[in-house]
Amino acid sequence: MLNGPNLGRLGRRQPEIYGTTTHVELAQLCVAWGAERGLEVEVRQTNHEGVLVDWLNTAADDATPVVLNAAAWTHYSYAVFDACAQLVAPLVEVHLSDPRARPEEFRHHSVVTPHAVEVIAGHGVEGYRMALDVLAGGVGP
Ligand code: DQA
Repeated sequence: MLNGPNLGRLGRRQPEIYGTTTHVELAQLCVAWGAERGLEVEVRQTNHEGVLVDWLNTAADDATPVVLNAAAWTHYSYAVFDACAQLVAPLVEVHLSDPRARPEEFRHHSVVTPHAVEVIAGHGVEGYRMALDVLAGGVGP
């Protein structure tokens, strides 16, 4: 599970939009949800685009499934687009909010969506659990 910029401040960052769960709590939830589904989950967050590209490249080399919330990079990073294009295992795109329903025009486009098997948006932290259901071959959203 790879989370992009500003998501390390979850819980303190605009809680009216992103909720009150911290990134540490989110990571704990995801590891537990993964274990329930027989998945070994690792949760990472970075504010540095090249670091995310490196992680995606490693996931491509290792054929590791990815749940990606690329945060603001979702909307404009062609480096993230190119990195997602190389993935061979399923990619699930997740957003806490529903970017397409938000007023800022720039949030309405995603460079991740063309490469994702599923987009889950607007379900808060539950969206990550739904993404794991998709990867586990379960019921999905
Ligand atoms: C986000 C939505 C993006 O538009 C925004 O830039 C984020 C978080 C979400 O999870 O709702 O940082 O990806």
